[in-house]
Amino acid sequence: MPDTKTETRTATLSFDGKSFELPMHSPTAGPDVIDIQKLYSSAGVFTHDPGFTSTSSCESGLTFIDGDEGILLHRGYSIDELAEQSHYLEVCYLLLYGELPDKKTLDNFEFTITRHTMIHEQMHNFFRGFRRDAHPMATMVGVVGAMSAFYHDSTDIHDSWQREVASHRLIAKMPTIAAMAYKYSIGQPFVYPRNDLSYAANFLRMCFAVPAEEYVVDPVLERAMDRIFTLHADHEQNASTSTVRLASSSGANPFACIAAGIACLWGPAHGGANQACLEMLREIGTPDRIPEFIARAKDKNDPFRLMGFGHRVYKNFDPRARVMKKSADEVLDLLGIEDNPTLQVAKELEKVALEDDYFADKKLYPNVDFYSGIILDAMQFPTAMFTPIFAVARTVGWVSQWKEMISDPALKIGRPRQLYTGPVQRPYVPIEKR
Ligand code: CMC
Repeated sequence: MPDTKTETRTATLSFDGKSFELPMHSPTAGPDVIDIQKLYSSAGVFTHDPGFTSTSSCESGLTFIDGDEGILLHRGYSIDELAEQSHYLEVCYLLLYGELPDKKTLDNFEFTITRHTMIHEQMHNFFRGFRRDAHPMATMVGVVGAMSAFYHDSTDIHDSWQREVASHRLIAKMPTIAAMAYKYSIGQPFVYPRNDLSYAANFLRMCFAVPAEEYVVDPVLERAMDRIFTLHADHEQNASTSTVRLASSSGANPFACIAAGIACLWGPAHGGANQACLEMLREIGTPDRIPEFIARAKDKNDPFRLMGFGHRVYKNFDPRARVMKKSADEVLDLLGIEDNPTLQVAKELEKVALEDDYFADKKLYPNVDFYSGIILDAMQFPTAMFTPIFAVARTVGWVSQWKEMISDPALKIGRPRQLYTGPVQRPYVPIEKR
């Protein structure tokens, strides 16, 4: 990774009558950062930032977000242009290797990915060990973690060839694993991948085909699926990506690290929000109940939050939500689904929330999950599959960030410090004296 840091200025930290100069770095875009790496050794203090609201944890050249303006760029290309003009595997290549591929390079990349789509046959037994009613995310965490028990030849992180193969395997096999988790949960036979289909079409087929009849992939759904994958491909240092980076900072193998990312993604504040959002829209049911739910979201004593609203970084429209909203309209229109009640509730809820001072003051706008569930629902995916689909799409982001991190000469094990508030040292009290 090129070193883009420029140390033109310093920041001064003063306390207890002492001053410390801290180097500052200017990124290619975004706010400057104050480098506090040597703060403890020089000043003997830590900084305190739970939730990392003001902390840059790494150098990265993959994805840039301007949360105030609602801009998302992958390797400099805007998500709007990529969603409109590119497709998922091309975006995968862009994220992994930094440039848009020419035709031959893209063909080769697609060939490589499609040749890795099957999973080791013995892994089928793993699925059969789970309860049928297991959430597909639970199954995915286990099965992806188990990949390190099957693909020994791609676990050495110091070998660039093995890193490459592991990356391709993860991107190629994740749709197969997610589809198998789904098939298992509904008691249908697993459907093997078909390499003559696109990444999105193959995934749809593995989810919805049955051996008893032919399955023809609808091109409208194929395009919508591809767009959902593209919109979720990477998102800078979010919770699951940071989890992957922290796990891999210890030298853990890539399959274990990505399994950790999947586990983190599952939470309702992160990737689990798409499932939670659709369930919320259904619970609201009709537009006349919206005021009740808005009131609950604003009530400090009620833990309820408007799912699909708000973002740590975006203080404006999530650009992915804009594309997703358009896509939802297109998909429902093309599928001939008129007057979808959930979409009606979503549109009205968005309007009411955006006009409400609470949401305006806190800069809470719809995020990517607000509309994705409506599209996935129209495509006949059950809500439990929404987050696994997010995991499939985000795998390239995790893998690209992992590769970037491993090749960074500044790589160190991640080890935050703490503001200790427990008791100071005290003598052990024998049980008979307590
Ligand atoms: N509904 C109602 N109030 C909210 C919401 C919401 N969805 N989101 C934030 N707030 C309020 C929150 O109560 C807080 O109020 P106050 O300042 O009075 O205490 C204020 O806004 C700031 O919230 P925060 O929790 O400190 O902000 P955060 O940056 O830590 O959290 C978030 C970001 C995404 C976790 C949060 O907005 C949220 O829980 N949203 C709903 C879940 C969701 O849609 N998540 C998907 C995120 S996008 C997909 C992804 O990247 O995974």
